[in-house]
This record gives sequence, structure tokens and C-alpha cells, in this order.
Amino acid sequence: MAKLQVAVFASGNGSNFQALVDAEREGRLGAEIRLLVCNRPEAPVVKRAEAAGIPAFVFRPKDYPSREAYEKEILAELTRLDIGLIVLAGFMRILTSVIVDAYAGRIINIHPALLPAFPGLNVIREALEYGVKVTGVTVHFADGNLDAGPIIAQEAVKIEEDDTEETLAERIHKVEHRLLPEVVRKIAEGRVRVEGRRVYVR
Ligand code: GRF
Repeated sequence: MAKLQVAVFASGNGSNFQALVDAEREGRLGAEIRLLVCNRPEAPVVKRAEAAGIPAFVFRPKDYPSREAYEKEILAELTRLDIGLIVLAGFMRILTSVIVDAYAGRIINIHPALLPAFPGLNVIREALEYGVKVTGVTVHFADGNLDAGPIIAQEAVKIEEDDTEETLAERIHKVEHRLLPEVVRKIAEGRVRVEGRRVYVR
């Protein structure tokens, strides 16, 4: 069977993109990272893709009349490359129905909190400031609504009394970098099934 072809959408540092690339190199992904999609040409993730020899679709949203306009171009590229799974890993743009409808059930997102707690941005700091004792990482299917969609995997991270945003972020990212490749592998192996909001992983 042909390997699952994956496109990673990212806007920033790209440490999760890197974790996926490393997992593929080490034979732990069961899928091929075929494309990076990035809306910020100056983002470090673009350099990471270059170094890994992975093609990138890099664009500036302001060069397009609408979100739909750039998504149509991205969709053409996804189709051309036979992409079967989109991984949102720190992609700071909301997707429209152009991509969401074409890839329904085939888009996942990683979020640095235990959803439905702390959706949105800057959530590592928010969890710390709120005073929760446990936060974590969520990987879920994305459906066009912000940080919604059926949850595939979650892992808790304890908050220590002496944590700062930096120390907590470091532990959360460590979990992300392990959990995301694991989920991609399970999807690639056909072990993930969705029924309503519930996701069953064999
Ligand atoms: C991660 O914390 C991810 O959960 C969130 O954005 C961050 C991206 O980090 N959606 P990086 O660019 O992968 O380093």
C-alpha cells in the first residue's frame, strides 16, 4: 500500500514539524512528510523544511484578495501531491470551507492544553495564570472551528509551583513532539476511527 502523504501547516518555529521529520527519518512515522504550508516567509519552519529537503508552499496572505483565494492554490497543490492528511502544527490562520470541506476528517491539530480547557492563543501562560495544577497536550481532528473537533489523544502535564511560562512550555513541547508523530502513525496505519465526537484508537 502507498504511504500516507502528509502536509504540515505551520507559521512559526516549527519544532513540531521537525519532530515529524525526525520521526519519519527514524522510521517511526509510517507516513511521508511531503509538503510544508507556511503563511510567513520569514518563519524558522521554512528553513527547517529547506534543510530537510521538503518542498514548501510559502505565501503572504496579503498578496491574495481573500483567504479562499490562497486556499484554492494550496488545495491544488495538496491534490497534485496526493496529500491524504493535513497536520496543523502551529498554523496561525483559520481555514475556510475550501480546504476544510475537501479534507473533512483528514485534518488534525495539536494544541498545548487539555481541550476543551484553554482554547485559543497563549494558552500555556493562561493555564499557569489560572492556577490549574494539570494542563497538557491535545491532538484532535480539526473542523474549521477553533480548537474544536473530536479528540484523538491527550496527555497531561503537571504544573509545578516553581514553573515559569518557559519551564512549563518546555515540558509541554516535549510531550507534543512525542505525541504528534504517534498519532500520525496510528492514522497512517488505519487504526483511528471516529464516531460522532468519540475517537477509537486500536
Ligand atoms: C505548539 O505548542 C502547538 O501546540 C501550537 O503551536 C505551537 C507550535 O510550536 N498549536 P512549533 O512551531 O511547532 O514549535
